[in-house]
Amino acid sequence: MAKPQRSFACQNCGALTQRWQGRCEACGEWNTIVEESAAAGIGAQAALGARKGRVFNLAKLIEPERPAPPRILTGIGELDRVSGGGFVAGSVLLLGGEPGIGKSTLLIQACAALASAGRRVIYISGEEAVDQVRLRAQRLGLGESPVELAAETSVEDIVATLSAGPRPALVIIDSIQTMWTSLVESTPGTVTQVRGAAQALIRFAKTSGAAVILVGHVTKDGQIAGPRVVEHMVDAVLSFEGEGGRDLRLLRAVKNRFGATDEIGVFEMTGRGLAEVENPSALFLSARDLAAPGAAVFAGMEGSRPLLVEFQALVAPSSLGTPRRAVVGWDSSRLAMIVAVLETHAGLKLSQHDIYLTVAGGLRVGEPAADLAAAAALISSLSNIALGPESVFFGEIGLSGAIRPVAHGLARLKEAAKLGFRRATVPQGASERGAAKEIAAPKELALRNCAHISDLVASIGATQPRGVRQ
Ligand code: TYD
Ligand code: MG
Repeated sequence: MAKPQRSFACQNCGALTQRWQGRCEACGEWNTIVEESAAAGIGAQAALGARKGRVFNLAKLIEPERPAPPRILTGIGELDRVSGGGFVAGSVLLLGGEPGIGKSTLLIQACAALASAGRRVIYISGEEAVDQVRLRAQRLGLGESPVELAAETSVEDIVATLSAGPRPALVIIDSIQTMWTSLVESTPGTVTQVRGAAQALIRFAKTSGAAVILVGHVTKDGQIAGPRVVEHMVDAVLSFEGEGGRDLRLLRAVKNRFGATDEIGVFEMTGRGLAEVENPSALFLSARDLAAPGAAVFAGMEGSRPLLVEFQALVAPSSLGTPRRAVVGWDSSRLAMIVAVLETHAGLKLSQHDIYLTVAGGLRVGEPAADLAAAAALISSLSNIALGPESVFFGEIGLSGAIRPVAHGLARLKEAAKLGFRRATVPQGASERGAAKEIAAPKELALRNCAHISDLVASIGATQPRGVRQ
């Protein structure tokens, strides 16, 4: 028999090394390398190489009569949409988020909704006592729902208990960092334990057909602390984030084997738990000051959903040799590019100006389609001409100054029309990419097509020529 090998694992990133080191070479963290006994770890038999292979049956890729796995809908619309249309029976989902963001609150609300609809739902807390969970549920007005609770951390005990009763529809494990399995020698909370515990729970989900949700705490830099290693093992990873110090919470799909990953769900943390925000555009525009110069509304998309956001720019003469450029909520290199295009192709003089650009409401915009709105905000601030509270913008700006069409034109325009906007500045031939129907905008909206950045400058200047400050 081979001599048991010593191996060392980084508790931060999971990298394996052959010897102990003070600093992990993979992630650069100090004092995170811990010895693991390979023989006691998961896959120990394989390491010993003793077992003869078993012949198994191969399945066909296409089996038309196989129905899709059943979905478990919570009735919380924002959550169901981000999970890709409900949790999938027999799958495992990891919900990550900073401590205190509201993961437990969201899940207890989802549990209560499902349990009230007659499903068997089990909530296992490794962090709070049963009374604490109960108290929270009562505060949320969910005290009556038949959710089954336990405060346990041993995965073997949990799997044994879950397997004993009737099959649950949904099991919550809050959190995976507190779980431990006796199959692994390391202390609870280490990467090896988290991985071992997750593996046992994943096996339970696959064999029982229950949907399992693992809660994972993430560190400030956005990594699911330690259990980054779990991400590749689970079927879906959702991340729960707070925005700009407000009570707004965004739920995003980071990975989803059963649906799209570009969806977001918007919630607001209230005194009675998380409330769904069904019309986030109105929320992001509510504090708007669109009558002032420098503000432009971008008709954006977050996943499959249109979202209107306000760009605010302040362009002011600079007293510094190198003028300041500051951006919040958008890419600063993108701003540098727009400024260069405005100078080169539209004749604007910005090199002696400080430029500040923010996305209102603490949102982060990543779409190139926001270029036109950002440019409009800059031109508006520089020329001191307000764009008017009824206008929206979208379009990508190329280095040549050309304005390119972007996807989902119709959805953007419809959302703008729904929220009472009356004018939309869009790329010329918004219909070129994809269907011609994209140009058939809602009739309440007057479309202004811009083919080039100079068209945008002209159109803004043309609306109110007397306001121009040269
Ligand atoms: P929690 O769900 O415990 O966060 P997590 O599980 O992600 O660590 O949420 C805790 C925070 O939410 C806490 O700071 C208080 C706040 N909160 C409310 O504002 N309203 C409520 O109804 C509840 C239950 C919590
Ligand atoms: Mg919690």
